[in-house]
Amino acid sequence: MARGSDLGILKEKLTDARAITVLTGAGISADSGVPTFRGVDGLDGLWRNYRSEELATPEAFERDPRLVWEWYNWRRELIATKQPNSAHYAVAELERRYPRFWLITQNVDGLHRAAGSRKLSEIHGNIWMVRCTACRRIVENRDVPIQILPTCTDCRRLVRPHIVWFGESLAEEDLHRSYAALQSSDLCLIIGTSGVVYPAAGFAAVAKKAGAFVVEINLDKTPQSHFVDLSIQGRAKEVVPLLLSGC
Ligand code: APR
Repeated sequence: MARGSDLGILKEKLTDARAITVLTGAGISADSGVPTFRGVDGLDGLWRNYRSEELATPEAFERDPRLVWEWYNWRRELIATKQPNSAHYAVAELERRYPRFWLITQNVDGLHRAAGSRKLSEIHGNIWMVRCTACRRIVENRDVPIQILPTCTDCRRLVRPHIVWFGESLAEEDLHRSYAALQSSDLCLIIGTSGVVYPAAGFAAVAKKAGAFVVEINLDKTPQSHFVDLSIQGRAKEVVPLLLSGC
């Protein structure tokens, strides 16, 4: 559990902070019942024994789009039943309190938006958006399950999840906004990410180099724990709401 002295330091930083950037990963949605990727209860292996690295790739989709869509339908069904938790709501409240605020999330579940966050980059995409493989038109699609194989409403060609897969680059705009926020913030909160998937795994270092006070909130130690300014161990839904009383 988070130590009182650590929370005290963080609350002081929140009082002084003028610009905040928050980076979140699967751990913040774990408290809503969405499986994380790695770890004992992780997503990997839960669906027909596949690992996400085997399905979330352009090659897998080219080889077998039906299989990949079946996996996304399973994830859509799972996520559709979940609600934001107190940590998502607390992050949305931070946005309201700090005029200079940006949220960078690796999560594709849309729970930050559902909690009211608006100043955010969903750098890995959103599971409720689809993109045409031919004309690249992006539209919202909340069908659960989605009809396999789904096609573009414009050109009738195959659509894919609007998600950044392994081996693909992040959108220029998301990268640009993320780096701009990280380099101009004086406080950076890293919540519920294992910190092993780049470029997000490098964001803590970017913020620190730019002079921000970097805080990690995670159930466990991560590869980033040793170089952040403060590492708080605890559940996101318990720790993050506590921060609101300090700012
Ligand atoms: N509160 C805080 N942290 C938690 C909680 C919780 N309740 N539950 C789990 N965690 C932490 C774990 O300790 C772990 O460090 O959340 C982290 C989840 O790590 P991953 O499963 O690796 O998820 P993430 O870091 O978001 O993965 C990054 O990898 O597979 C890709 O594209 C996918 O966006 C994903 C990216």
